[in-house]
Amino acid sequence: MLTIVSSLDHTMKNTYNLRSIAAKAITQVLEQGQSLSTVLPELQQKVSDKDKALLQELCFGVMRVLPQLEWFISQLMEKPLKGKQRIFHYLIMVGIYQLTYTRIPAHAALAETVNGAINLKKPQLKGLINGVLRQFQRQQHELVEQSNNHDINPHLHPKWLLERIQNAYPQVWKDIVDANNQKPPMWLRVNQLHHTTDQYLTLLEEADIRAEMDINHPHAIRLVTPCPVNTLPGFEKGWVTIQDRSAQRCAELLAPSNGESILDLCAAPGGKTTHILEVAPKSKVLAIDIDEQRIKRVNENLQRLNLHAVVKKGDGRLPQEWAAGEQFDRILLDAPCSATGVIRRHPDIKWLRRNEDINQLVTLQTEILDAIWPYLKKNGTLVYATCSILPQENSEQISSFLKRHTDAILSETGTLESPGIQVVPEVTGGDGFFYARLIKQ
Ligand SMILES: C[S@@+](CC[C@H](N)C(=O)[O-])C[C@H]1O[C@@H](n2cnc3c(N)ncnc32)[C@H](O)[C@@H]1O
Repeated sequence: MLTIVSSLDHTMKNTYNLRSIAAKAITQVLEQGQSLSTVLPELQQKVSDKDKALLQELCFGVMRVLPQLEWFISQLMEKPLKGKQRIFHYLIMVGIYQLTYTRIPAHAALAETVNGAINLKKPQLKGLINGVLRQFQRQQHELVEQSNNHDINPHLHPKWLLERIQNAYPQVWKDIVDANNQKPPMWLRVNQLHHTTDQYLTLLEEADIRAEMDINHPHAIRLVTPCPVNTLPGFEKGWVTIQDRSAQRCAELLAPSNGESILDLCAAPGGKTTHILEVAPKSKVLAIDIDEQRIKRVNENLQRLNLHAVVKKGDGRLPQEWAAGEQFDRILLDAPCSATGVIRRHPDIKWLRRNEDINQLVTLQTEILDAIWPYLKKNGTLVYATCSILPQENSEQISSFLKRHTDAILSETGTLESPGIQVVPEVTGGDGFFYARLIKQ
């Protein structure tokens, strides 16, 4: 699982120190419970475009292999750094990560990491950090070998989550965990209002970007190697969107038509709102989300793609507050969930989620489903989707919904014994996702 960073280090020329910024981000995640997707955008504004990718790589990489890095440090230091010095523990991790998983020359990785102590206003810790990293270098080979020993969390997942995955997928849990530990592939969704998927593939070829279509997902293209969005033909003009192929299936199953009224509930940042509108640009879409900050991104995405929806802040459990008594032809509920299907895209999820969160999420999903069902027209379609791989949030959730609502029929997605379609993350395939399509009798 070697992660390769080819970009050379340019931080010496800058006034900031990238490693100390990475250590700050990691501290905010692991000590303050914030997600990398909240913390990183602000920190990335402080660094050059070139360094943005490296900052992301260092933070995501550390989250991917955290137990292994913790174990290395436990072998190198008698006492871990705690309290106000905790950030230096993470700075050391950033150093070890570079030495183990990147192609950054060791001397640059070391010098930059040690200098991070100056930026973090503790130059007196330079010696300690240098000493630990050099000792790691000397013992690297044997420590890496030992860390692959089965006693030392070789699966890089918290125990509670590993057990849940093993219980739910006794046959394929290893493949799932392996996919979770990889870097994700980059999938595009071709905006059919501009080009067919075939046509866009040709544009990519002309731009020397290697890519493949997916016969099961008509709008999806996988890039052989991920690339910056600004190198994609027509990205700014809205010709494509970055969206995993599994997420694309939601709009496929919803099958919206022009003229219909559609509710996209839990819509932010709008990946599926815009897909619905690309498929049915003359449909009337209401996009609702509870999170004001994330709602801004729905509007930005609509703007880039030149599409139109009514976007409102609202709680899915309280449609009486925002639906104005309207009933919809189709509803997409992309429910808040454990996000255990997208760990490879958000490896911090492994350390932010708690076992006890799952029951709370299941309750929230149930409440939203029950609240929204009366707002679906007769013969209308509701697609319930999650990016979770846990049955409690998925097939079990829909099973109990079907028992509570006798006017709901499961349509082409699974059987009554095992309702819905569950996909699991695949190394070069899609994310883990669940979909159930329900029709109101
Ligand atoms: C999986 S994400 C949605 C992704 C989005 N559908 C897309 O394709 O870009 C789940 C969303 O649910 C929202 N959410 C959480 N609780 C909610 C609630 N009670 N009512 C409405 N939205 C909620 C979150 O803010 C989050 O944006």
